[in-house]
Amino acid sequence: MMVRELVKVDEFLVERWMNEYEHNVEINMAETCVEPFTLREFLEFTGRTDFFDEFQNRQLTYGFIEGNPELREGIANQYVDVDPNNVLVTGGAIEANFNAFYSLVEPGDTVISVFPAYQQLFSVAKSFGADVKRLHLVPENQWLPEIEELKELVDSKTKMIVLNNPHNPTGSLIDEALLRAICEVAEDSGAYVLGDEAYRGLYIHEGDHTPSVMDIYEKGIATGSFSKSISLTGLRLGWITSNGKVIHQCKLHRDYTTISKSMLDEALATIAIQHIDKIMERNLKIVRENHRFLDDWINDESLIEWVKPRAGSVAFMRHHLDMSSTEICKRLIEEKSTFMVPSDCFEVEGHLRIGYGNRIEVISEGLGRVKEFLDEHR
Ligand SMILES: Cc1ncc(COP(=O)(O)O)c(C=O)c1O
Repeated sequence: MMVRELVKVDEFLVERWMNEYEHNVEINMAETCVEPFTLREFLEFTGRTDFFDEFQNRQLTYGFIEGNPELREGIANQYVDVDPNNVLVTGGAIEANFNAFYSLVEPGDTVISVFPAYQQLFSVAKSFGADVKRLHLVPENQWLPEIEELKELVDSKTKMIVLNNPHNPTGSLIDEALLRAICEVAEDSGAYVLGDEAYRGLYIHEGDHTPSVMDIYEKGIATGSFSKSISLTGLRLGWITSNGKVIHQCKLHRDYTTISKSMLDEALATIAIQHIDKIMERNLKIVRENHRFLDDWINDESLIEWVKPRAGSVAFMRHHLDMSSTEICKRLIEEKSTFMVPSDCFEVEGHLRIGYGNRIEVISEGLGRVKEFLDEHR
């Protein structure tokens, strides 16, 4: 009998790490979301405490296949010129990214991805048979891609260039000029640019702004999320948008993974997108205050340094302890019940990823415990 070989996919290191520990610690500073709302808080915040009065009479059947039309329209409005028909609602940015790879990447394609990165951004393309090349981000260059390196990596088979802007795990932000330069390189080779924009809008400095890749490049594909900047992680919703041709492919493939998303989740997400300005105001306040707090803490701590994040809710802090990042994080869990992500999960040495979107009390308690730990090993 012929035995079919299982399709191989690399272990998703950060998700395995989160799964093992995140629900068993007192202080979770590994979280990447901006302080998720409780349902009650959210409905009060948006003035919709009457939501269930009406919703509870609705039959719980399938939702719209491509996503609730009002929701798709609200998402389209987050871009300069996007047709709601070119927006698909997905199970988080993770399903949106998966859909992009599933729909477009074929064996033998070259896919260029920023590295380090949220591992999905390169491992899925690899599992579909692509030759994945790494576009290195280093602290000496503010964790930003180098256009010269990108030009060297591009070849005649390049199908897609994958970015994450703002970037997890470093919080770097590709500005408009660099984004345009990347898109020009892509255009010369006919490649798509996939922009994972799950942390979009979380600018630390007032006045900062980078357009979506969707708004500047015809073959741009943007994915977004309700989990991070919008604080509704538990809804597990996100989206993908691109030109009509790409979205057609995405629809064909999405039919095999999704049918529709939950109509309850979509109804709540629709309320969120209608109150996006107010939610962003809340969340910018949180990340900016926490960024300042973390900055002060790092300035006083000789064993830790960082390239200050410009956007998002995560930072990659360099440590100067004579231990691997995994050992530090495991001991922080065991000795201080405090949780961060070791940079080994991103195949990088010597760093710790911290999420600073939590309530300030969590950050301050967590950093206090990290300080105790550092003092014990100084
Ligand atoms: C860069 C990036 N993309 C996508 C995701 C998945 O997010 P979602 O909750 O929207 O599926 C994450 C989650 O950590 C992420 O950091």
